[in-house]
Amino acid sequence: MIGAFNSGLRRVPAWPLYILAPVPVAWLFWLAVQGQLGIDPTKSIEHQLGLWALWGLIAGLAVTPLRKHLGLNLLKFRRAIGVITFFYVLAHLLVWLVLDVQFQNVWADIVKRWYITIGMLGFAFMVPLALTSNNWSIRRVGPVAWRRLHKATYVVALLGALHFLLLVKGFQWEPILYTGVIVSLLALRVDWRALGARTQARA
Ligand code: HEM
Repeated sequence: MIGAFNSGLRRVPAWPLYILAPVPVAWLFWLAVQGQLGIDPTKSIEHQLGLWALWGLIAGLAVTPLRKHLGLNLLKFRRAIGVITFFYVLAHLLVWLVLDVQFQNVWADIVKRWYITIGMLGFAFMVPLALTSNNWSIRRVGPVAWRRLHKATYVVALLGALHFLLLVKGFQWEPILYTGVIVSLLALRVDWRALGARTQARA
Protein backbone atom coordinates (compact mmCIF):
# COMPACT_ATOMS: atom_id res chain seq x y z
CA MET A 1 0.00 0.00 0.00
CA ILE A 2 2.63 2.55 1.12
CA GLY A 3 4.91 1.26 -1.68
CA ALA A 4 2.27 2.02 -4.30
CA PHE A 5 1.72 5.46 -2.74
CA ASN A 6 5.47 6.16 -2.83
CA SER A 7 5.78 5.13 -6.49
CA GLY A 8 2.77 7.34 -7.29
CA LEU A 9 4.45 10.23 -5.47
CA ARG A 10 7.66 9.64 -7.43
CA ARG A 11 5.77 10.73 -10.54
CA VAL A 12 4.53 13.97 -8.89
CA PRO A 13 6.93 16.86 -9.56
CA ALA A 14 7.91 19.25 -6.73
CA TRP A 15 7.97 22.42 -8.85
CA PRO A 16 4.17 23.12 -8.73
CA LEU A 17 4.57 23.71 -4.99
CA TYR A 18 6.57 26.87 -5.79
CA ILE A 19 3.71 28.12 -7.97
CA LEU A 20 0.98 27.22 -5.45
CA ALA A 21 2.78 28.66 -2.39
CA PRO A 22 2.12 32.38 -3.13
CA VAL A 23 -1.61 31.72 -3.78
CA PRO A 24 -2.73 31.68 -0.09
CA VAL A 25 -0.60 34.79 0.58
CA ALA A 26 -2.23 36.65 -2.32
CA TRP A 27 -5.65 35.40 -1.07
CA LEU A 28 -4.92 36.81 2.39
CA PHE A 29 -4.08 40.26 0.96
CA TRP A 30 -7.18 40.07 -1.27
CA LEU A 31 -9.36 39.39 1.80
CA ALA A 32 -7.71 42.35 3.58
CA VAL A 33 -8.44 44.67 0.63
CA GLN A 34 -12.05 43.41 0.62
CA GLY A 35 -12.31 44.30 4.32
CA GLN A 36 -12.91 40.68 5.32
CA LEU A 37 -10.08 40.32 7.85
CA GLY A 38 -11.69 42.11 10.77
CA ILE A 39 -10.71 45.36 12.43
CA ASP A 40 -6.95 44.78 12.28
CA PRO A 41 -6.11 43.16 8.92
CA THR A 42 -2.36 43.71 9.38
CA LYS A 43 -2.37 41.65 12.59
CA SER A 44 -4.49 38.95 10.91
CA ILE A 45 -2.04 38.66 7.99
CA GLU A 46 0.95 38.73 10.37
CA HIS A 47 -0.55 35.97 12.52
CA GLN A 48 -1.58 33.78 9.58
CA LEU A 49 1.85 34.03 7.94
CA GLY A 50 3.49 33.20 11.30
CA LEU A 51 1.33 30.09 11.56
CA TRP A 52 2.07 29.01 7.99
CA ALA A 53 5.79 29.46 8.68
CA LEU A 54 5.48 27.22 11.73
CA TRP A 55 3.48 24.61 9.76
CA GLY A 56 6.19 24.67 7.08
CA LEU A 57 8.92 24.10 9.68
CA ILE A 58 6.91 21.21 11.13
CA ALA A 59 6.27 19.72 7.66
CA GLY A 60 10.01 19.88 6.89
CA LEU A 61 10.88 18.21 10.20
CA ALA A 62 8.27 15.49 9.63
CA VAL A 63 9.80 14.22 6.36
CA THR A 64 12.53 12.04 7.91
CA PRO A 65 10.40 10.48 10.73
CA LEU A 66 7.60 9.74 8.21
CA ARG A 67 10.08 7.82 6.05
CA LYS A 68 11.80 6.13 8.99
CA HIS A 69 8.70 5.10 10.92
CA LEU A 70 5.93 4.84 8.30
CA GLY A 71 7.92 4.27 5.10
CA LEU A 72 6.32 7.31 3.45
CA ASN A 73 8.88 8.95 1.18
CA LEU A 74 8.40 12.70 0.77
CA LEU A 75 12.12 13.46 0.43
CA LYS A 76 11.81 14.99 -3.04
CA PHE A 77 9.47 17.67 -1.67
CA ARG A 78 11.66 18.63 1.30
CA ARG A 79 13.69 21.31 -0.45
CA ALA A 80 10.54 23.01 -1.79
CA ILE A 81 8.98 22.87 1.70
CA GLY A 82 12.11 24.53 3.15
CA VAL A 83 12.33 27.26 0.52
CA ILE A 84 8.60 28.04 0.73
CA THR A 85 8.79 28.16 4.54
CA PHE A 86 11.62 30.68 4.26
CA PHE A 87 9.47 32.88 2.02
CA TYR A 88 6.56 32.69 4.48
CA VAL A 89 8.89 33.77 7.31
CA LEU A 90 10.26 36.56 5.09
CA ALA A 91 6.70 37.69 4.25
CA HIS A 92 5.80 37.54 7.98
CA LEU A 93 8.86 39.69 8.79
CA LEU A 94 8.06 42.17 5.99
CA VAL A 95 4.44 42.56 7.12
CA TRP A 96 5.74 43.35 10.61
CA LEU A 97 8.36 45.80 9.26
CA VAL A 98 6.31 47.59 6.58
CA LEU A 99 2.67 47.37 7.69
CA ASP A 100 2.82 46.83 11.44
CA VAL A 101 5.66 48.95 12.88
CA GLN A 102 6.16 50.91 9.61
CA PHE A 103 9.94 51.05 10.07
CA GLN A 104 9.50 52.78 13.47
CA ASN A 105 11.71 51.74 16.43
CA VAL A 106 12.73 48.56 14.62
CA TRP A 107 16.05 48.14 16.40
CA ALA A 108 14.52 48.98 19.81
CA ASP A 109 11.85 46.31 19.23
CA ILE A 110 14.44 43.70 18.21
CA VAL A 111 16.53 44.42 21.31
CA LYS A 112 13.72 44.98 23.86
CA ARG A 113 11.06 42.44 22.93
CA TRP A 114 12.30 38.93 23.52
CA TYR A 115 9.88 37.33 21.09
CA ILE A 116 11.08 39.64 18.30
CA THR A 117 14.75 38.91 19.17
CA ILE A 118 14.07 35.17 19.02
CA GLY A 119 12.05 35.49 15.77
CA MET A 120 14.87 37.48 14.16
CA LEU A 121 17.40 34.89 15.30
CA GLY A 122 15.26 32.16 13.68
CA PHE A 123 15.11 34.19 10.47
CA ALA A 124 18.89 34.83 10.54
CA PHE A 125 19.53 31.07 10.81
CA MET A 126 17.26 30.48 7.82
CA VAL A 127 19.08 32.85 5.45
CA PRO A 128 22.17 30.62 4.84
CA LEU A 129 19.86 27.60 4.53
CA ALA A 130 17.73 29.31 1.87
CA LEU A 131 20.81 30.58 0.01
CA THR A 132 22.33 27.09 -0.15
CA SER A 133 19.12 25.30 -1.18
CA ASN A 134 20.20 24.89 -4.80
CA ASN A 135 22.17 22.21 -6.67
CA TRP A 136 25.14 24.48 -7.32
CA SER A 137 25.59 25.22 -3.56
CA ILE A 138 25.21 21.55 -2.60
CA ARG A 139 28.01 20.70 -5.07
CA ARG A 140 30.21 23.58 -3.82
CA VAL A 141 29.70 22.96 -0.10
CA GLY A 142 29.80 19.16 -0.46
CA PRO A 143 26.94 16.88 0.64
CA VAL A 144 28.33 16.11 4.12
CA ALA A 145 28.94 19.75 5.10
CA TRP A 146 25.64 20.71 3.46
CA ARG A 147 23.71 18.18 5.54
CA ARG A 148 25.48 19.40 8.68
CA LEU A 149 24.62 23.03 7.84
CA HIS A 150 20.98 22.14 7.23
CA LYS A 151 20.69 20.64 10.71
CA ALA A 152 20.21 24.33 11.67
CA THR A 153 16.53 23.75 10.76
CA TYR A 154 16.19 22.01 14.14
CA VAL A 155 17.32 25.22 15.85
CA VAL A 156 15.03 27.33 13.66
CA ALA A 157 12.00 25.20 14.56
CA LEU A 158 12.80 25.45 18.28
CA LEU A 159 13.28 29.22 17.97
CA GLY A 160 9.96 29.48 16.08
CA ALA A 161 8.20 27.58 18.89
CA LEU A 162 9.89 29.72 21.58
CA HIS A 163 8.92 32.90 19.68
CA PHE A 164 5.27 31.77 19.77
CA LEU A 165 5.45 30.78 23.48
CA LEU A 166 6.87 34.20 24.38
CA LEU A 167 4.48 36.33 22.38
CA VAL A 168 1.17 35.01 23.72
CA LYS A 169 -0.37 36.72 26.69
CA GLY A 170 -1.42 34.52 29.59
CA PHE A 171 -1.78 30.75 29.41
CA GLN A 172 -2.62 29.36 25.95
CA TRP A 173 -2.57 25.80 24.69
CA GLU A 174 -1.77 26.56 21.04
CA PRO A 175 1.95 27.46 21.37
CA ILE A 176 2.42 24.66 23.91
CA LEU A 177 0.95 22.15 21.44
CA TYR A 178 3.20 23.39 18.61
CA THR A 179 6.23 23.18 20.90
CA GLY A 180 5.22 19.63 21.87
CA VAL A 181 4.91 18.61 18.19
CA ILE A 182 8.32 20.12 17.33
CA VAL A 183 10.09 18.56 20.34
CA SER A 184 8.47 15.17 19.55
CA LEU A 185 9.55 15.34 15.90
CA LEU A 186 13.10 16.14 16.98
CA ALA A 187 13.03 13.32 19.56
CA LEU A 188 11.98 10.87 16.80
CA ARG A 189 15.25 11.64 14.97
CA VAL A 190 17.39 10.63 17.94
CA ASP A 191 18.71 7.07 17.89
CA TRP A 192 17.95 6.45 21.58
CA ARG A 193 19.39 2.89 21.55
CA ALA A 194 22.76 4.08 20.20
CA LEU A 195 22.71 6.98 22.67
CA GLY A 196 21.99 4.59 25.57
CA ALA A 197 24.77 2.21 24.46
CA ARG A 198 27.24 5.11 24.21
CA THR A 199 26.29 6.38 27.70
CA GLN A 200 26.68 2.86 29.14
CA ALA A 201 30.06 2.40 27.47
CA ARG A 202 31.24 5.68 28.98
CA ALA A 203 29.99 4.77 32.52
C1 HEM B 1 11.30 31.17 12.36
C2 HEM B 1 10.70 32.34 12.26
C3 HEM B 1 9.34 32.68 12.74
C4 HEM B 1 8.24 31.88 13.01
C5 HEM B 1 8.12 30.37 12.83
C6 HEM B 1 7.19 32.74 13.49
C7 HEM B 1 5.93 32.30 13.87
C8 HEM B 1 4.97 33.11 14.45
C9 HEM B 1 3.71 32.62 14.97
C10 HEM B 1 3.26 31.17 14.95
C11 HEM B 1 3.03 33.68 15.44
C12 HEM B 1 1.67 33.68 16.16
C13 HEM B 1 0.52 33.50 15.25
C14 HEM B 1 -0.79 33.50 16.00
O1 HEM B 1 -0.93 34.22 16.98
O2 HEM B 1 -1.68 32.76 15.61
C15 HEM B 1 3.85 34.86 15.22
C16 HEM B 1 3.48 36.14 15.57
C17 HEM B 1 4.28 37.24 15.40
N1 HEM B 1 5.55 37.26 14.89
FE1 HEM B 1 6.60 35.65 14.21
N2 HEM B 1 7.64 34.05 13.50
C18 HEM B 1 8.94 34.05 13.06
C19 HEM B 1 9.75 35.14 12.92
C20 HEM B 1 9.38 36.43 13.19
C21 HEM B 1 10.18 37.61 12.91
C22 HEM B 1 11.53 37.59 12.26
C23 HEM B 1 9.45 38.68 13.33
C24 HEM B 1 9.79 40.13 13.27
C25 HEM B 1 10.95 40.62 13.43
C26 HEM B 1 8.21 38.20 13.86
C27 HEM B 1 7.22 38.98 14.39
C28 HEM B 1 5.99 38.56 14.86
C29 HEM B 1 4.96 39.41 15.39
C30 HEM B 1 5.04 40.93 15.54
C31 HEM B 1 3.89 38.59 15.73
C32 HEM B 1 2.53 39.02 16.31
C33 HEM B 1 2.64 39.35 17.75
C34 HEM B 1 1.32 39.87 18.29
O3 HEM B 1 0.42 39.08 18.60
O4 HEM B 1 1.19 41.08 18.38
N3 HEM B 1 8.19 36.83 13.75
N4 HEM B 1 5.03 34.47 14.63
